[in-house]
Amino acid sequence: MGKLVVGNVSELPPSSRRIVRVNGREIGVFNVKGKYYALRNLCPHQSAPLCLGELTGLAISDEPGEIEWTREGEILRCPWHGWEFDIANGSTIFQSNARVKTYDVQVEKASVARLIEGVETYPVDVENDLVILEY
Ligand code: FES
Repeated sequence: MGKLVVGNVSELPPSSRRIVRVNGREIGVFNVKGKYYALRNLCPHQSAPLCLGELTGLAISDEPGEIEWTREGEILRCPWHGWEFDIANGSTIFQSNARVKTYDVQVEKASVARLIEGVETYPVDVENDLVILEY
């Protein structure tokens, strides 16, 4: 399994996304309400760039006339024909075997760097949190 630094946490704020290329594959990394998700940027229907699609929610109903809007921002709609996918596990919202590959995303501390001034060196801790894609 490999790891790729997607960027600093500050560069991927809530409601943002970044598409990265790993081993010839595009993967979309999303920040949804502070939680990170990653999916392959390839719709299983007709190969659209899925991760360019709209993030939306899910309407559910337990009985006629009652509709509840849930999971805002957790459903990814394909930009070509509107198939919808659960961003957490890549499964379609409608009953289908079609699925998008998902990946783990972690947040890790950046490593320690050194600042050199003249002949003396000074340790500098870099405490930036990095968004790491595991592929
Ligand atoms: S290509 Fe995604 S729904 Fe058709």
